[in-house]
Amino acid sequence: MTSLIRAFSRRSALGLLAGLAAGHATPIRAEAAPALDVFKDPNCGCCGGWIAHLMHHGFIARATDTSDMTAIKARLGIPDALASCHTAQLGNYVIEGHVPAHAIKRLLAEKPDALGLAVPGMPIGSPGMEGGKPETYDVILFGKGGQSRFGRYLGDRPV
Ligand code: CU
Ligand code: CU
Repeated sequence: MTSLIRAFSRRSALGLLAGLAAGHATPIRAEAAPALDVFKDPNCGCCGGWIAHLMHHGFIARATDTSDMTAIKARLGIPDALASCHTAQLGNYVIEGHVPAHAIKRLLAEKPDALGLAVPGMPIGSPGMEGGKPETYDVILFGKGGQSRFGRYLGDRPV
């Protein structure tokens, strides 16, 4: 019995080594929740609504209040035409405005070569801007390569 167990464990150890060598074994590690650093004006309430939406969808968000959002946007390279209220950093990306969690997850999965995502202005019904009659709006991918439509949304869902 003991030798049987020993033989089995040796075989599984060898199998694990072979798997590692072939690159098949997946290392076991906890997947860290993506964390955003959010800059927002302390007098703006919709930013808090957007943060709550992100947390609800599994993100970690750290908020920093600042009365000089213009300087933050300039430093992070947000084009004037794409500006909204809050601005966030997520790894090497920047997220401007009420971008839905769904679009941010797609950004992290697809990893396009870009500066980040923006929802210009404050579309009614976008995450954090609920309350009125929702309007359809675009999520814009922007960076050195220019700007393009990343997705079209209604509320927090793609349409
Ligand atoms: Cu806002
Ligand atoms: Cu706001």
